[in-house]
Amino acid sequence: MSNKRWTLTLICLFILFLYVFIQFIWTTRQMEGAVESLDKRVSLNEEPLHFILIAQEFDNPYWRKIEKGAKDAAKEFQVEVEYVAPLRTSVEEQMKLLEKAIASKVDGIIVQSLDEETFTPIINKAMSKNIPIITIDTDAKGSKRLSYVGTDNFAAGQLLGKTVVDMTSGEHKIGVIIGSESSDNQQERLDGFLSVIQQDPRFEVVNVEVSNISRIQASIQAEIMLRKFPDISIMVGTSALDAIGMTVAVKNLQRSDVQIFGFDDVEETITAIKKGEISATIIQRPYEMGYVAVQLMVKHLKGQPIPNVYFTSSKKIDASNVQMEVTP
Ligand code: BGC
Repeated sequence: MSNKRWTLTLICLFILFLYVFIQFIWTTRQMEGAVESLDKRVSLNEEPLHFILIAQEFDNPYWRKIEKGAKDAAKEFQVEVEYVAPLRTSVEEQMKLLEKAIASKVDGIIVQSLDEETFTPIINKAMSKNIPIITIDTDAKGSKRLSYVGTDNFAAGQLLGKTVVDMTSGEHKIGVIIGSESSDNQQERLDGFLSVIQQDPRFEVVNVEVSNISRIQASIQAEIMLRKFPDISIMVGTSALDAIGMTVAVKNLQRSDVQIFGFDDVEETITAIKKGEISATIIQRPYEMGYVAVQLMVKHLKGQPIPNVYFTSSKKIDASNVQMEVTP
């Protein structure tokens, strides 16, 4: 009898084991299926690609145009573009945003290289982790970034110099305000400008200061400069808000004899050209920069070749053609 009970217990245990085993196999199969279909979705790219665009300053009107171009391209190519930037320009803050983007394993990063020396190792780190980087507006030439989309800044600086030569007569002392000391685009524009101006004995550049891309700083620096060098009769700005800042300084000091030349076509600059407060500006194509950067990133991720450098154009705008120029 006891033997019979034992046999019965063993049979029951065996059936129980079989039931648990079958359940286990079935659940495992189901889980494998779920993972497989998730993998398939990712490899088929059903999740939209996610790019991060890191700007120099969040609410800067020039960068907002880049953002608009990037977002329009995102809609067209069905990807996501996240626009991030420090509230006020800061190399450290921008670097933190870049590190964060790398850590969050986004599909691609579009970034302005505000300081080539500092940015190059981080750009290279991203590339080594298979996160593609495209530089925008300011390049990091020595890095392993995929491509640069933006102005040929030396050539744009030369155009600024040529504009000053063509639109002035007689001898002049010049004061220059650049947006940033660290970024290559500002240095290249200054070099291009000087390469033209220094060929002409009519001109002497007496002072170069930095605005930190702030219109208030540009106006303060311009006012200090005009007090220190009252014989300055031409002022030149190489970033988007410098010339506007200069108009304020010139008004404060009642120096209507000073001619101002600037960069970019933010609304106030266009208005000031119409009013005759700014003589001319060299415009860039920020909307196109944003659009093309996203387009190239998508192409690259589809395995198509993209150019190492994509220069967007620049152009002189003055009273003669300001009415015709409408840029998004
Ligand atoms: C420059 C940008 C800069 C902006 C600032 C533009 O001219 O290309 O690098 O961030 O001015 O307002």
